[in-house]
Amino acid sequence: TEETLILVKPDGVARGLTGEVLRRIEAKGYKIVDLRMVNASRELLEEHYEEHAGKPFFGPLVEFMASGPVVAVRASGNRVIEGFRSLAGATDPTVAAPGTIRGDLGRDWGAAVTQNIVHGSDSTLSAERELALWFA
Ligand code: GTP
Ligand code: MG
Repeated sequence: TEETLILVKPDGVARGLTGEVLRRIEAKGYKIVDLRMVNASRELLEEHYEEHAGKPFFGPLVEFMASGPVVAVRASGNRVIEGFRSLAGATDPTVAAPGTIRGDLGRDWGAAVTQNIVHGSDSTLSAERELALWFA
């Protein structure tokens, strides 16, 4: 069965939303296979977000992700990659649909980087790559 990497980002952890995110993963029926709290190094984050290297928000994104602990989750289930992306909602929490994690729990804080609570792998290839990084 398929696996994905989910991250509760530093804003989600700082706001005490870790339990709520885990609850939604489990309530949907996905299995939490592994879980760890990580103070991610810039090296790890630059590799994690390599597809965004060179974009104007790359530096601030890495700084934001290094600003506090992150909760990394290995979750499994049929089509969990696509399914969690759907649970998370659109990247921009202002327009993410109500009912989604970002739509229900996020908003625009006026910060330099979108603080949108969670990350989820976007393909089987990224899931394999990201799980290897965070659960080495
Ligand atoms: P992830 O699951 O975190 O990868 O989010 P995503 O797949 O919905 O978005 P994407 O991979 O395109 O971007 C990664 C992260 O960079 C986003 O979740 C945001 O935190 C941030 N981000 C994306 N686009 C922008 C942008 O235009 N401006 C800023 N400031 N941040 C952005
Ligand atoms: Mg992405």
